[in-house]
Amino acid sequence: MIRKISTKALEVGMFVSDVGRTWLNHPWKTKSRLLTERSEIEELIAFGIEEVYIDTSKSIKPAKEQSKPKYSPLTDKSQPVNRQQQVKKSEPVEPTVAMETEFPKAAKAYSKALDTSKALVAACRMNKRIELNEVQEDVNELVESVSRNRDALTALIKLRHFDDYTYTHSLNVSVLSISAGKTLGLTNDELKILGLGTMFHDLGKLRIPDNILNKPGKLTDEEFAIMRNHAALSAEILTEQNLNVNDQVIKVARSHHERIDGSGYPDHLQGDQIPPLATICGLSDVYDALTSDRVYHKGMLPHDALKFIYSLRGTHFQPDWVDRFVQSVGIYPPGSVVELNTGHRAVVMEVNNRSLLTPLIKVVADPHGQLYQRTKLVDLSKPSESQGWSISRVVPPSEAGFEPSDFFSFQPE
Ligand SMILES: [Fe+2]
Ligand SMILES: [Fe+2]
Repeated sequence: MIRKISTKALEVGMFVSDVGRTWLNHPWKTKSRLLTERSEIEELIAFGIEEVYIDTSKSIKPAKEQSKPKYSPLTDKSQPVNRQQQVKKSEPVEPTVAMETEFPKAAKAYSKALDTSKALVAACRMNKRIELNEVQEDVNELVESVSRNRDALTALIKLRHFDDYTYTHSLNVSVLSISAGKTLGLTNDELKILGLGTMFHDLGKLRIPDNILNKPGKLTDEEFAIMRNHAALSAEILTEQNLNVNDQVIKVARSHHERIDGSGYPDHLQGDQIPPLATICGLSDVYDALTSDRVYHKGMLPHDALKFIYSLRGTHFQPDWVDRFVQSVGIYPPGSVVELNTGHRAVVMEVNNRSLLTPLIKVVADPHGQLYQRTKLVDLSKPSESQGWSISRVVPPSEAGFEPSDFFSFQPE
């Protein structure tokens, strides 16, 4: 829905559809954009623009509280046309366990699953049997951790940046997918299937020649065609292994690169033909690929990656799914370093699904960058705690002046 509002009432997360001026008279290259920083609003105000048009359907500001969906991607085949749209309604996920308690448990589950991910790659490289029980056990632990406190594992993804992408990617996609699935209201059984499928989603890459897989430059059309085979190869490996898994596990692997406009691969599925769990895997896959540091380039900041994913809304992914994914990851994911309107620096501890712009933060440095001896936890959504503080920008980790993971080191149990 298009609405005209005062520039002063704009907020980060709103989608400006038209600044109402010709390009000569406004500061942006295009008339529309998703607002991700306060400075963009200030630019408009500085230009003397008093009113703009916003598109509420494209804004990623959190929707008002909605009722819980009755949605099952595995069993609900009665209304295939509406299946993806049913995801629209979801409920904020409240943690049942505090971050302090969950973080060490999540760290243990993550490193155990990382070992399994390495063993999985080794087994496939040598054409050996996949130890399904071990992967299942690890995935179950991930699902349980996410069920207790969704943000502990997602914070770990953000904070760990020293492991090899080959092993971490599948695990990170699994964690992000389970977390998004939780926000979408999937049952634990569905989350376990999703977790397993995502752990296996790129196994087919092990059958792609190294010179193509690790090529630093742009792939030729021919190389790209070979690369695109990996999704079908992942499904092939799982079928060859004759694993006793739900069909959906194999579908996640085969269809994670399918896109609603039919531009994906390997089957050029369109719209609702794409299995819902494969869509969640696809979104997490793009997000992790964009935000991960690789040998040849630094990863994007989460909000830049979300902006990119947002640009695929309606062409590659169903708009509602993109919205829910953003709601799950958060505009400021746990582990992000942010600067407040006062210049203080803080680390994001937990996402607030009801209000993405006001997460739970730990204020760690004063406006001069001096670290505090005693840090302070502040829930920005509670006026009594926030004292007028708001997030003004995301600080890249290299500019933070401290290691954000230090502020997640809680006392061992
Ligand atoms: Fe892939
Ligand atoms: Fe992937």
